[in-house]
Amino acid sequence: MTVLVTGGAGFIGSNFIFYELEKHPEDRIVCLDKLTYAGNLSTLKAVLEKPNFRFVKEDICHREAVYQLFEEEKPDMVVHFAAESHVDRSIENPGVFLETNIMGTAVLMDACRKYGIKRYHQVSTDEVYGDLPLDRPDLLFTEETPLHTSSPYSSSKAGADLLVMAYHRTFGLPVTISRCSNNYGPYQFPEKLIPLMIANCLADKPLPVYGEGKNVRDWLYVEDHCKAIDLIIRKGKEGEIYNIGGHNEMANIDIVKLILKELGKPESLITYVTDRKGHDMRYAIDPAKIHRELGWLPETMFAEGIKKTIQWYLDNKEWWETIISGEYQNYYREMYGNR
Ligand code: NAD
Ligand code: TYD
Repeated sequence: MTVLVTGGAGFIGSNFIFYELEKHPEDRIVCLDKLTYAGNLSTLKAVLEKPNFRFVKEDICHREAVYQLFEEEKPDMVVHFAAESHVDRSIENPGVFLETNIMGTAVLMDACRKYGIKRYHQVSTDEVYGDLPLDRPDLLFTEETPLHTSSPYSSSKAGADLLVMAYHRTFGLPVTISRCSNNYGPYQFPEKLIPLMIANCLADKPLPVYGEGKNVRDWLYVEDHCKAIDLIIRKGKEGEIYNIGGHNEMANIDIVKLILKELGKPESLITYVTDRKGHDMRYAIDPAKIHRELGWLPETMFAEGIKKTIQWYLDNKEWWETIISGEYQNYYREMYGNR
């Protein structure tokens, strides 16, 4: 079977490629990635030479090129990770989010319709459900929770989800959607909370906590997310949506303090900065459906996962130091300079 993985040079997509090549060595993986600021070919170094792997640098919005690739590869499945993924960037520049996340999804699905496909899987996010109040721990996102987005990022992901369900109903495209909570683990771009705090900590730089640091996210180790997607594309039911999360809610400030403790750095590095506009308060996933129907359960608990992640960033300094020494400097100055 040939699986086309978009966005495979990014954080979750690369982890998914490693997982699939290991678990299903009989399959062929074709990775389609534009290599935006968030994509890194060096991440895929260990698999680039494998005979059952091919990397193609291309934009998912480039219709002719996408059709050409489908013509060549005739993929059996598409697992669509490619996206603009950072909320703060979407607040600064929504346009590219609409282009990549919505229009790019449409191009891929059109290619699937034209060339035929066994499964198109949309990697979505819990952020499409909006947020939950801090004082109602009983409330969790289920697959029936209405879409109610806050940021241009989450709105673009919700728009794509609606389009995916429309292609299923109107054209009979065999789709599935997964909506996962916040991931952490190796190869996450250092603009996101956990790697940013690790990198700053190691450089003894201030740790910029938005608002009061009380916002809650439901953290999942990236490999558990990959395992869930692998199950969904092979055993999940067409037309279905699956929430993925590990019942691991934590306030931002507690994560930051934990990282400081693990690295033996003082809490005086914490700096409270102006809050993110429209900042979602709390995300919390109810993963009962994927557990009940596909038997999925998270395997890496947070206490272990965060240790492994910190160790990975310590062992792979070259990977992220190269990133933060380039264009990232301008991003950091613009985003945090006067905050
Ligand atoms: P990422 O930003 O690390 O990687 C995105 C990848 O997509 C990069 O390699 C980039 O080069 C590529 N890309 C961007 N625009 C492209 C285009 N036009 N054409 C081709 N490739 C393009 O993102 P991530 O954190 O790995 O997230 C992957 C997916 O998972 C996204 O769809 C995101 O919405 C979803 N998701 C992420 C999280 C999380 O916590 N990171 C949680 C739930 C869902
Ligand atoms: P992030 O990793 O950007 O993921 P998302 O916004 O998609 O959940 O941020 C996670 C949380 O951390 C979010 O509540 C915003 C907060 N945050 C900070 O407090 N400081 C930072 O520098 C960053 C990047 C995030």
